[in-house]
Amino acid sequence: MLTQEIIRTKRDGGELDPADIARFVQGLTDSSVTEGQVAALAMAVYFQGMNRAEAVALTLAMRDSGEVLSWPELDRPVVDKHSTGGVGDNVSLMLAPIAAACGLAVPMISGRGLGHTGGTLDKMESIPGYNAVPDNALFRKVIASAGCAIIGQTGNLAPADKRFYGIRDVTATVESVPLITASILSKKLAEGLGALVLDVKCGNGAFMDNPDRANELAGSLVEVATGAGMPTTALITDMNQPLASAAGNAVEVANAADFLTGKARDGRLLDVTLALVAEMLVSGGLATDADEGRTRALAALEDGKAAEQFNRMIAELGGPSDFLRDPGRHLVRAPLISALSAGREGYVSGYDARGIGMSVVALGGGRTRPGDPVDHAVGLTGLLPVGARVEKDTPLALVHARNEDQVAMVQRQLRAAVQVSETPPDRSPVILGRKG
Ligand code: URA
Repeated sequence: MLTQEIIRTKRDGGELDPADIARFVQGLTDSSVTEGQVAALAMAVYFQGMNRAEAVALTLAMRDSGEVLSWPELDRPVVDKHSTGGVGDNVSLMLAPIAAACGLAVPMISGRGLGHTGGTLDKMESIPGYNAVPDNALFRKVIASAGCAIIGQTGNLAPADKRFYGIRDVTATVESVPLITASILSKKLAEGLGALVLDVKCGNGAFMDNPDRANELAGSLVEVATGAGMPTTALITDMNQPLASAAGNAVEVANAADFLTGKARDGRLLDVTLALVAEMLVSGGLATDADEGRTRALAALEDGKAAEQFNRMIAELGGPSDFLRDPGRHLVRAPLISALSAGREGYVSGYDARGIGMSVVALGGGRTRPGDPVDHAVGLTGLLPVGARVEKDTPLALVHARNEDQVAMVQRQLRAAVQVSETPPDRSPVILGRKG
């Protein structure tokens, strides 16, 4: 079918067959399909949707638009996790080494932050010397010895998605469940995994702000991944408050370092991290059920093995060889650290989590356009969980900033983003559901 006929079929609510989808993706990759045609098809899918068979075909075609990795040299199950993105979501930094310490191989290809959600890669690049874009040989070497490597996407992994996403981003067509599904899964399927675990965030700091939408996305991701031959499960987790008590780059790495060494662990972050590692261990065949998986994950954390794997990964990717001995010595610090006090007695009763993420962007710790640099030093720490009791002078957060103007601006934003009430709020669970 001609490209315009493919667009017309979808525009009129018809079903596309796999051969036409593959032809379209070929044109997307080699640029023989124009930007206008890509945008038109994206808008047609936005309004008409895609059935599961079409979404599977789109995912597989985008996966096959570039290199597809395989790991014949490894004798351990290869499993990864993907999060749809949140605020203070540094789970990957602990999850990868915990899962590695439990016997999995985790080739984690992560993205940079855009908008209010942080990017794992930006966080890792806060570590001096850390090479987040190693060549293939080094990537494989690190996976073989440390069990995990957190790196960036190479140009050759699902290149069709890179062009498609760029066009969707500027044509208001990102928020389409089948397009999000194919975009996320094409990249993960190209990693050559044996199984995948998804963390679908739900709440005011997430893409999907309500449980119905989060369930819809989780269902689509699990069914399409399974249809594409990848055993996949998903947890739906709460994103109505920052997950860690820190949000930013170096500050989230410091938070992860404290978590791994046992110096401090945020409760909700621990719950989500262990639950996701447990899912990975079950799908990799290293635990019989989630309870056993959680117990094994916690043991790897408590006995220091996870911390060892993290240190090894950092050292082999060019970072300090003793990073976890004194992370503060290696991480950049902002020149100003200023507390925002609660100003009244009560309880932290709610967050505009997106607003917290945007405060980090306003400080320079995130980006609003792809390719912009980020300031690794700035961010927020000391964020309190919903339900925390505060006195008038209790800090709601510490603002890590470059100058006083930034502090004043972000303090105003934070006042609007953190609610304090007289009575304690209802407790809400952090794990909201599971698919698969
Ligand atoms: N993340 C992706 O990688 N793709 C999307 O379409 C949305 C979020």
